[in-house]
Amino acid sequence: MTSLPEYSDKVKEHFLKPKNFGKMTKPDAKGQVGSPACGDIMELFLKVDKKTKEINDIKFQTFGCAAAIASTSVLTEMVKGKTLAQAKKLTMKDIKEKLEDLPKIKLHCSVMAIQALRKAIENYELQN
Ligand code: FES
Repeated sequence: MTSLPEYSDKVKEHFLKPKNFGKMTKPDAKGQVGSPACGDIMELFLKVDKKTKEINDIKFQTFGCAAAIASTSVLTEMVKGKTLAQAKKLTMKDIKEKLEDLPKIKLHCSVMAIQALRKAIENYELQN
């Protein structure tokens, strides 16, 4: 029998009350990733200030596990107000730290959040 992963209080907090959850109407860019391993899907929406390149608003939808939802939720908090260049530097280690750790078998869920963010930024830069 496999045991359930132990989550930190921070993970539980973000999973139970995700921040910036939902769809955005008319985003400036969107990034979507799926994990072939678990079949989960993550989608991020960005509003970007054209002049300063700051991320003014960010929303997400995740059809995935608790760690995926918590990772994306905490990521949106970290990214708001940052420039695209600053946001690009975030890694899964930053998410792991903010969430006060993640079980090893759930690290790929935080990687998905970073990939969705990078994809959204890449799509923004391609269109602007
Ligand atoms: S198990 Fe699929 S994203 Fe976490």
